[in-house]
Amino acid sequence: MSGLVKVGIVGLGNIGSHHVSYLKDTERVELAAVCDIKTDLADKFAAETGAKAYYDAHEMFEAGDVEAVIVAVPHYDHVPISVDAFLHGIHVLCEKPLAVHVNDAMSVIEAYRKAREHNPSLVFAMMFNERTFPFHKKIKEIVAGGELGQLTRATWINTKWFRTQAYYDSGSWRATWAGEGGGILTNQCPHNLDMYQWLFGLPKRVTGHAHIGKYHDIEVEDEVTAYFEHANGMIGHFIVSTAESPGTNRLEVVGEKGKLVYEDGQLTLHRNEVSMLEYSRTTDKAWGKVNSTVETIAVDDTGPKGHHVVTEQFVASILDGVPLIAEGDEGVHSVALANAIMLSSFRGTTLEMPHDPDAFESELKDRVRTSRFEKPGVRSVRSDIAGSFSE
Ligand SMILES: NC(=O)c1ccc[n+]([C@@H]2O[C@H](COP(=O)([O-])OP(=O)(O)OC[C@H]3O[C@@H](n4cnc5c(N)ncnc54)[C@H](O)[C@@H]3O)[C@@H](O)[C@H]2O)c1
Repeated sequence: MSGLVKVGIVGLGNIGSHHVSYLKDTERVELAAVCDIKTDLADKFAAETGAKAYYDAHEMFEAGDVEAVIVAVPHYDHVPISVDAFLHGIHVLCEKPLAVHVNDAMSVIEAYRKAREHNPSLVFAMMFNERTFPFHKKIKEIVAGGELGQLTRATWINTKWFRTQAYYDSGSWRATWAGEGGGILTNQCPHNLDMYQWLFGLPKRVTGHAHIGKYHDIEVEDEVTAYFEHANGMIGHFIVSTAESPGTNRLEVVGEKGKLVYEDGQLTLHRNEVSMLEYSRTTDKAWGKVNSTVETIAVDDTGPKGHHVVTEQFVASILDGVPLIAEGDEGVHSVALANAIMLSSFRGTTLEMPHDPDAFESELKDRVRTSRFEKPGVRSVRSDIAGSFSE
């Protein structure tokens, strides 16, 4: 392959237009094609960038104009478009979530596996841009480095995903079972769910409480609390909402050797002088306490981060074979967690992981079939995507 990758973007809405904005100046990339079912959008971006306009992803793949594609369409279409790309031998960078439910996610992974039998250098990546955030990378380094010893608890409160009714009304697909397949867990929190499993792995048991349209006129969840139990005894709390302002984004990770707290752009590490578990077991002091020190961990947050870093790495992976920020098949984990929380909530029970993927798919399809929800007039709003993140 030459030192240039011909990239196409499918879906030119909020995030697709952001991908266009940096891709036209990205080294080793030729923005060869832009595609949207809204012909005026495709034509506009084609005129601005010199890329070829398409109104149908399949036609774009058939034309042979692109070697790689960024899939930035509403959730359900991630699956058929990614599968079709693999059938054409085209590398895929898929927006989150990989799919709405595990069965669909597995069908993309299977299509990739099959395509690689003929084309072993085919690349499949997920757009998990939050993995590039310097604070998140530092948290990963500390947790993976074992400094906290045996982990006992992770609590993530992220209620900085505030969304207004105007946001939900801005697209006919948004916040519907048929169009979006879910609410906060499917749209905003794939990032947090991916981060959670990236840091701690998947839990063994999941208990979810999801409130449907509690603060917005929507038919999907906008406030969720989940409780996770891991095989090693660690517990997790995952508390998220699109209806809190001011919101909180606080992650606490507790281990026998200390505690890591991330909030408001500050990372604090408490270090125990001895293991709290060992101390608790062995001390003869009834009111004994474990001595600890506390330090603020310096993190340079000014470096490159975000979507363009994931895309540059995707291109480097195609050209040079370097590792991706997030492999495509890793996308199934956040889908599995989201599905488990919702299924647990629908049934009012705790679920063992891995859960039966057919059970969630069937619950979802029931909701699509029995939906009586009618979208009020859809009003398109376009605003700076930067305001949509919860960092
Ligand atoms: N990684 C991130 O930070 C981030 C941020 C926002 C959105 N997203 C994800 O990106 C995807 C799109 O979200 P959005 O907010 O840009 O949505 P959007 O509604 O603003 O844009 C979607 C665009 O896709 C087009 N489209 C729909 N179906 C299509 C098809 N089959 N072929 C071609 N074009 C099609 C629509 O006409 C629309 O222009 C979602 O999966 C969302 O979760 C990711």
